[in-house]
Amino acid sequence: MNTRTEKILSSAVEAIGNTPLVELSRITRGLDGRILAKLDYLNPGFSKKDRIARQMIEDAEARGELQPGGTVVELTSGNTGTGLAIVCGVKGYRFVAVMSKGNSVERARMMRALGAEVVLVDQEKSSVPGQVSGADLELVERETEKIVRERKAFRADQFRSTGNFRAHYLHTGPEFLRQSGGAIDGFCDFVGSGGSFAGCAAAFKEHRASIQCYVVEPAGAAVLAGESIINPNHRVQGGGYARPELPLLKREQIDGFLKVTDEEATLAARRLAREEGIFAGYSSGANVAAALQLLRTTCRGKTIAILICDSGLKYLSTDLW
Ligand SMILES: Cc1ncc(COP(=O)(O)O)c(C=O)c1O
Repeated sequence: MNTRTEKILSSAVEAIGNTPLVELSRITRGLDGRILAKLDYLNPGFSKKDRIARQMIEDAEARGELQPGGTVVELTSGNTGTGLAIVCGVKGYRFVAVMSKGNSVERARMMRALGAEVVLVDQEKSSVPGQVSGADLELVERETEKIVRERKAFRADQFRSTGNFRAHYLHTGPEFLRQSGGAIDGFCDFVGSGGSFAGCAAAFKEHRASIQCYVVEPAGAAVLAGESIINPNHRVQGGGYARPELPLLKREQIDGFLKVTDEEATLAARRLAREEGIFAGYSSGANVAAALQLLRTTCRGKTIAILICDSGLKYLSTDLW
């Protein structure tokens, strides 16, 4: 039974997860192999990050780290913040989102609408609006730390939180396996915190060690692959921060690295909308572009799983559409 759709739920928090899995058979026409896309943009906050918001808060409650009426703070590119705004709003916590001004304005507006306090941090002088670099993220990190100290708040901390990993290890990965009948040969994922990659990869490899898991990075900032940064500014919001070490990512889970340009991510997101009726953002486009690379090279004839990370509605102010 799909618990999300077949009974009355006690709140929108219960509606997180159990998203549909769709074969992208139009985009892969003429290619040997399949892409199975998990429509995580259909979560209540229109992104996969609702999952980790719920898990991080429920894990903190279980550990006794969050008291009724307490304050939660998070550094976010908007999606985790939106998820936290939903979960905190429903559960009665105050929530402060700290975000770079480089992220699209829809995100700040949506979090405010959901009851969050949104603190916007100026970008570095050399940065471009709409393109958040590692240096921009450093500035947001400093502001986040300051607010956590001042307000004696609980920091969700998605880059280090085991809740981020657990959300995908306990739910996203097993859902993929259940829905596909276990018929997955590969997985590729555009990495931000690395939580989705790490959680899904762990679930997949536990199911069958031969499932190949690929990290996807922006072409000019493929630091996890060991390359130097040529261009830290890219359009794929939510990841590609050029951080060489990510606490949640385990090297032994990574079978390879793929690079995607802004143009490839943009074109793939537009094809997803036009050909498959899936209205998603840049990182979903990056995942599709990377999966197509795999089907054309090392994974010919295989089935590749990807996440559709967030909704295209979050990019109406950008030049994606
Ligand atoms: C739109 C989008 N895509 C991809 C990612 C990266 O996901 P993860 O942090 O699980 O690596 C994020 C993370 O915030 C995101 O918001």
